[in-house]
Amino acid sequence: MDAAQKFELLRRFFDEVNGRDKAIGKGDKSNSVGVYMPSDLASIKQGIEQLDGMIDPAGWFLDGGAGKLQVALLMAGVYEIPTLAVEYDGELLIESSYYIPELKRRGFEVSAPLVMQKGNFLTDEVYKRAGINFCDITTSMNFYSDHLGLARKIAKEGKKGSVFIFHGPERRDRDFSPLKFEREIILRKYYSVDRGLYIYRK
Ligand SMILES: C[S@@+](CC[C@H](N)C(=O)[O-])C[C@H]1O[C@@H](n2cnc3c(N)ncnc32)[C@H](O)[C@@H]1O
Repeated sequence: MDAAQKFELLRRFFDEVNGRDKAIGKGDKSNSVGVYMPSDLASIKQGIEQLDGMIDPAGWFLDGGAGKLQVALLMAGVYEIPTLAVEYDGELLIESSYYIPELKRRGFEVSAPLVMQKGNFLTDEVYKRAGINFCDITTSMNFYSDHLGLARKIAKEGKKGSVFIFHGPERRDRDFSPLKFEREIILRKYYSVDRGLYIYRK
């Protein structure tokens, strides 16, 4: 299966999961750290592919607030980038751990390391448990959840040159200094708002 076929399989799988969860009232979900809502995978892929090599495939990719692992599976399974998925909501993580064998049964192999951790991505403890140094993470991504805290952690402890991808509503003047803003990629509208990927670098 090539990368395009894997992406299609993943997209269809999450369309099923998200459609089913929405139908039983388990779509968007609030918890004590924020709100879970799934990304639009096709938009994320389109955005990631415009990054022109900014993601280092040899370093770790952090999905900070991984939800049901959609983006983590895209990165580790389709782009073959070692990925650390950190999610505070244990229920979401338990549910999504069943997706990996189900995807495998359908022919989708997760070819790169995918490490899942329950916990708060702002704490050192999750990285210790994962056996991954925060400074070995070369790209971090976050979908509008504790993004300021994560930007601060990258500024303080992250690897020099590492990239922070903030996925959020369209707004040009978002300031995560001292991280330096590099570029924005406007995504198509979903959840009725314009969204973008905003790229910063330490
Ligand atoms: C908007 S959802 C995004 C889910 C997923 N990344 C996606 O794009 O489909 C944000 C998720 O971040 C989680 N979250 C928020 N703050 C967190 C934190 N400090 N540590 C770990 N997870 C967090 C929430 O529980 C929620 O599941």
